Amino acid sequence: MSAIYGRVTGWGFYVPEKIISNFDLEKSLETSNEWIVQRSGIEERHIAAPNETTATLAVNASQAALDKAGLAGCDLDLIIVATSSPDYLTPPVSSQVQYSLCADNVPAFVLEVGCTGFIYSLATAYQFIATGAYQNILVVGVEIISRHVNWQDRSTAVLFGDAAGAVIIQATDEPCGLQGFVLGSDGSQHQQIIIPAGGTAEPVDKASLAGGRHFVHMNGREVFKFASRVIGKACREAVDKAGISMDDVDWIIPHQANLRIIEAASREMKVPIERFVINIEKYGNTSAASIPLALSEYLDSGRIQPDDTLLLVSFGAGLTWGAVVLQMAPTANGSSSTI
Ligand code: ACO
Repeated sequence: MSAIYGRVTGWGFYVPEKIISNFDLEKSLETSNEWIVQRSGIEERHIAAPNETTATLAVNASQAALDKAGLAGCDLDLIIVATSSPDYLTPPVSSQVQYSLCADNVPAFVLEVGCTGFIYSLATAYQFIATGAYQNILVVGVEIISRHVNWQDRSTAVLFGDAAGAVIIQATDEPCGLQGFVLGSDGSQHQQIIIPAGGTAEPVDKASLAGGRHFVHMNGREVFKFASRVIGKACREAVDKAGISMDDVDWIIPHQANLRIIEAASREMKVPIERFVINIEKYGNTSAASIPLALSEYLDSGRIQPDDTLLLVSFGAGLTWGAVVLQMAPTANGSSSTI
């Protein structure tokens, strides 16, 4: 059989050194540690230094993933960078990542789907594996949302953090990898999370700068309701497509946007909260980086075992959503399917 399955052989993450705690935010915003912890579960977040960019964060996480897989940049066939906060509108940050990893002439592109970007990227990577087109793929989720946040706006400033997380997927003829996935988008709700100015719809000018329209604007309550509706549904669909039951899933890795959203999903899905990966307290919402960051951290600590069955689920700007079932290693009976 040809190598049409894809195994996660490497993973890694990078977070900037600087930590801003809720207590630090209390000094500059009308907020409190108590409010932020109660409403979101966030205690602190990492913020990129002035000399760091989305590309440098991505390269740090990617290099760690390559090292883990025992590969060099030149071994890669494809690089996908999931981000909504690239270094520039153009060129694509993926090319800077490719160049910095010495992955000479390797195709690289950006996939911009808000916080759902990593799930979309993973599903995309597996299509190239399944067709036999590429054998070694780097998928990295990375964000420096702190540069798009209005630090005077308590409704968004307390929520976000900067990070990068990466995985290496390598083709194998042993059944494992992507078992099922669901992706979705509802553009009728695109205003719910938006940076109004800076694109073609509203180029930045004095008026937009004065009105803070170049910052992230979010209707938190609507996004909360949307997330509560979509997470359980997406998880059930992905598990159905994989032909397994929720009991077969060892860990659910949800997008880390709000602890209350994760707790609501646990109740709605009737899956104990202990089976959800949670690290939001240390990093806040790192958007497209949150799932690969959580995955890498739990793999490094041994809480996720290299042969576990995982369910990754996210939602975000668009509004978009997505879930994938990922079997980390071949099963003994070889019953895995590919997409
Ligand atoms: N500190 C203190 N008070 C605050 C703060 C703050 N940081 N922020 C808001 N408040 C106040 C509000 O002004 C409001 O006061 P009012 O009742 O006098 O009007 C009160 O707290 C309640 O505000 P809500 O917005 O109703 O608070 P809620 O409980 O909904 O929590 C939150 C807000 C945390 C934003 C929540 O709605 C949420 O997490 N939503 C989902 C956001 C999300 O998942 N975003 C990810 C998007 S993914 C992507 O692509 C970026």
